[in-house]
Amino acid sequence: MKELSQSVSYDVQDGVAVLITNNPPVNTMSYHVRQGLVDGLEEADKDGDVRAIVLYCEGRTFFAGMDITEFGNPDVPEAPGITDVIKKLEGASKPVIAALHGTPLGGGFETALGCHHRVAVPSAKMGLPEVKLGIIPGAGGTVRLPRVVGVQAALEMMTSGNPISAERALSAGLVDEIVDGDLLSGAIAFVQKVASADEPLARIRDSDEKLQAARTNPEIFDVFRKSIARKTRGFKAPEAIIQSVEGAVRLPFDEALTNERRIFVECQKSPEAKAQQYFFFAERQAKKIPDVPKDTPTRGIEKVGVIGAGTMGGGISMNFLNRGIPVTIVEATQEALDRGIGIIEKNYASTAKKGRITEDDVKERMSLLTGALDYQALSDVDLVIEAVFEDMDLKKTVFRAIDEICKPGCVLASNTSYLNINEIAAVTSRPQDVIGLHFFSPANIMRLLEVVRGDETSNEVLATCMKLGAHIGKVAVVVGVCRGFVGNRILGARMRQSDDLLLKNAMPQEIDAVVFDFGFPMGSFAMRDLAGLDIGWLGDETPDKDINVRHQLCTRGRRGQKTGGGFYDYESGSRTPIPNAEVEQIIQEVSKNAGVTRTEISAADMLKRMIYAMVNEAAKILDEGIALRAAAIDVIWVYGYGWPTYRGGLTYYADQIGLTNIVEDLDRFSTEYDDPELEPAPLLRQLAREGKSFQDFVRQDHFEA
Ligand code: 3HC
Ligand code: NAI
Repeated sequence: MKELSQSVSYDVQDGVAVLITNNPPVNTMSYHVRQGLVDGLEEADKDGDVRAIVLYCEGRTFFAGMDITEFGNPDVPEAPGITDVIKKLEGASKPVIAALHGTPLGGGFETALGCHHRVAVPSAKMGLPEVKLGIIPGAGGTVRLPRVVGVQAALEMMTSGNPISAERALSAGLVDEIVDGDLLSGAIAFVQKVASADEPLARIRDSDEKLQAARTNPEIFDVFRKSIARKTRGFKAPEAIIQSVEGAVRLPFDEALTNERRIFVECQKSPEAKAQQYFFFAERQAKKIPDVPKDTPTRGIEKVGVIGAGTMGGGISMNFLNRGIPVTIVEATQEALDRGIGIIEKNYASTAKKGRITEDDVKERMSLLTGALDYQALSDVDLVIEAVFEDMDLKKTVFRAIDEICKPGCVLASNTSYLNINEIAAVTSRPQDVIGLHFFSPANIMRLLEVVRGDETSNEVLATCMKLGAHIGKVAVVVGVCRGFVGNRILGARMRQSDDLLLKNAMPQEIDAVVFDFGFPMGSFAMRDLAGLDIGWLGDETPDKDINVRHQLCTRGRRGQKTGGGFYDYESGSRTPIPNAEVEQIIQEVSKNAGVTRTEISAADMLKRMIYAMVNEAAKILDEGIALRAAAIDVIWVYGYGWPTYRGGLTYYADQIGLTNIVEDLDRFSTEYDDPELEPAPLLRQLAREGKSFQDFVRQDHFEA
């Protein structure tokens, strides 16, 4: 074995040169990897004893792509680039095979496509996820992939960025063989056969048969554009991918590669790419808890109890059933239990109807679900999640009861949206086992999980819940105790501004348009129509009825989408909000009753008031230590509320605007609107004064432990 660089070594086994890369953790194609591969290929080419070449990676995966931290880093030598490596691979005079395991992604998968053959272990998952980083595959992916799988399938794979299984790759012609046993031996055996056959080398570049359909039917591109328009609104990279594939169809191979490179470089420079790449690392940072080391022991969660089979309890249960974890749901009445279980079954049936799961899956999942009317049924579960009404006294009663019944070591969690976990924990004899697990609605679909750490919550319980969250496919983020935690507390700040704008300045459609155009899926008023205006409405008990728009709407039967109208009208079967003249009239009257003279406001100022109020709340949250770092807030807003990732995240966005500019605007607004909430938070002022950003801010007490 010969070392070619710090990460690549060279070995010859039975006449086959094996280029072995070891660049933990995920074998990114760093500079020294590229250099090692180039040197190895030259060596193998010269070596008369070598008939074929294998690219093999040690550790958890074949190359997971380029090292994102190298992008734009002037200290990293440009040559050899990844395209140089692939050119050498494809042009090698001896057959080259890629031995795939783990997650061959991005530049890693493009490298494999530059080889003459590919074999993979059954568990490998491969693809081109560059779109998620705001860029396009820039090492031949947009030119080679359509030559193998056709234009439509290539566009789908690259604009979604989702990986495919080895089995699918095999049927799509992307891998030649699945290796069940030892991967390296399988790859060597395969390439030896190829070398013995003495046939022309199989280079993807040599065939363009699969492009013919798009050449004769170029409308395929516009049809595809339309099909992804709603999902990709605001993102630049999906369109750039389409244009690069158009180039692959139109241009000769090498010119298409040059065209791809040009588009790649343009994307890479865009603010969207920078924001999305920031978010990639933010997501990974947010998982880390400074005083809870990686090796903190965790508890096994093999059986789960859920209390309350309502909107949240049902969805929460499905997460566990989907992972084969048995669930016991306890309800207050048989009727509520039957209804809750019925909804879960209906949800599964509809997923099966869409072909996403089988009838057998439905049966299996439902067989793991048990209903009960007595907390005693929870005596042997490892975790209980309470999801009863949002009422502190009720929650305390429930926790007192389960404290009596649940076995020692059982994790006791509440799904409360706003209430104080410490207060709930205090009624039990084991506050160290109590935690908040704040799922978002619909709980079986939304990825975010706020893990609320109480004052007494043990590290073991916290680590257990973080691990469990990942196991059920959630993005788990630790937050501290305060009203509404991180997500809903910041949402509250935006809501109060939109309500104030409604009272003083603008109509729902104007305010919502600003939020929608910014990149959110919908605005505050459309969101309230979706949730139902009567949630939390006090009816006759409502104070100041004359100046309360919601009350006025509810009393007129306008309670949201479910009644055909709320702040907006909805046509039957449609969720598209339609402005309503009567609603506008009601709003005008409410302003009059409140003695407010309505004034014009620009869309830009509306946006600033709503977003900067959120930024201000984020600063308070950080200062209080409710979020461990700014990145956590960004992750919560992306996964819980649809913040557009091409804007990075709330605090990232604020940093781009500049905190000094934000403080200036907030000062102006707080005076103009006489609103103390718009008064810049002390931390925001301090960071602005010191010329710092949110990303610079680290709370020492969290990070010194
Ligand atoms: N560049 C730099 N660092 C990377 C990286 C990359 N491409 N991929 C992963 N890492 C780092 C992570 O930040 C993390 O670091 P940390 O331990 O310090 O937090 C570490 O590697 C492990 O990553 P994960 O925690 O994400 O590990 P998982 O096992 O959960 O996931 C993975 C592994 C599926 C490979 C996932 O990391 C991933 O999806 N990575 C990105 C893959 C990708 O996007 N590749 C394309 C890159 S762009 C490209 O190749 C351009 C080309 O077209 C020219
Ligand atoms: P829901 O009203 O749909 O369901 C609550 C269920 O609890 C009802 O089925 C009720 O019969 C049952 N219940 C009441 N008392 C009980 C008791 N003593 N024992 C057993 N079951 C009992 O309420 P939803 O929306 O599911 O909310 C539940 C909790 O989740 C609340 O704390 C809420 O704040 C929180 N939450 C709600 C979200 C939402 O969007 N609906 C989002 C995130 C959290």
